Amino acid sequence: MTAALIDGDAVAAEVRDEVRTAVEKLAAKGVTPTLATVLMGTDPASETYVSLKQDDCEAVGIEARDVRIDGDAPADELYETVTDLNDDPSVHGVLVQQPLPDQVNDDGIVRAIDPRKDVDGFHPENLGLLMRGNARYVPCTPLGVQRLLVEADVETEGADVVVVGRSTIVGKPLANRLLARDDSGNATVTVCHSRTEDLTAKLRAADVVVAAVGVPELVDGSMIREGATVVDVGINRVERDGESMLVGDVDFESAREAAGAITPVPGGVGPMTRAMLLVNTVRAAGLVEGADVELATLD
Ligand SMILES: NC(=O)c1ccc[n+]([C@@H]2O[C@H](COP(=O)([O-])OP(=O)(O)OC[C@H]3O[C@@H](n4cnc5c(N)ncnc54)[C@H](OP(=O)(O)O)[C@@H]3O)[C@@H](O)[C@H]2O)c1
Repeated sequence: MTAALIDGDAVAAEVRDEVRTAVEKLAAKGVTPTLATVLMGTDPASETYVSLKQDDCEAVGIEARDVRIDGDAPADELYETVTDLNDDPSVHGVLVQQPLPDQVNDDGIVRAIDPRKDVDGFHPENLGLLMRGNARYVPCTPLGVQRLLVEADVETEGADVVVVGRSTIVGKPLANRLLARDDSGNATVTVCHSRTEDLTAKLRAADVVVAAVGVPELVDGSMIREGATVVDVGINRVERDGESMLVGDVDFESAREAAGAITPVPGGVGPMTRAMLLVNTVRAAGLVEGADVELATLD
């Protein structure tokens, strides 16, 4: 079997169209959805991520504010900036780019963001709501993975889903969403990690495999049940034949021989994560302004 490709670029383009429509409806009510990105320091990868987020916003009519803080500034300066953005009624979403310099406590900053403006969905209040089954914001990568499964007509109800990785930004919130009592959930979810015994046996029993590990090509075709769906969250830069390239956590070539459907890297989950930040920002504008926003999201 050669797997069908799940095209994240195409689905992300659809999501952006939905966001554009929602932005227009908000504009008619006098609301311009606005996202403030805060970058502390000059880490080149973070600068790239922030500028992509800014571009993505502008492409759909979301206003993007680019807030920069010196990497050597005291932590208080970042806290004050976040407080000002929390208090600014024209800002609907606040995103502090991680990783942060050593003098700043990452967790403290996540908690300092007004949970109603926490478009990353990492604030404990938002993670708690997600776990209770009435999410305010679903973190962007899990939300993107779920949308890909819906678009690929992958039935999760009653399915055995194995998520490899238990991070707070991907594995755990995704497992929670897939467990939810709704049409895009109702799965039986197993979460694996570095202490899991016999990962292969667990994966081979899965109808759906999601790899969010950060280990290049850890999951290969011999670990995939014939016809299973494979979602590769991983983004790893490796050197091959003297060239730098991106690979996922799945060995694409062998996995696609076994799988029924598979996401590529790049062009799978990555563009969905970016698109879902726009969804959460428009949702934030609706929440903060008390305006109804219709978006084809999942809850
Ligand atoms: N596509 C996107 O938009 C997007 C978004 C976010 C992340 N990513 C990528 O997704 C990957 C995971 O990111 P993350 O932030 O979730 O990573 P993370 O915080 O480092 O978590 C990795 C998880 O994988 C587990 N793990 C590590 N080695 C393992 C092994 N050999 N077998 C089984 N489990 C193993 C770890 O287990 P322990 O908990 O036991 O240590 C941990 O739970 C990375 O490649 C990252 O770049 C992509």
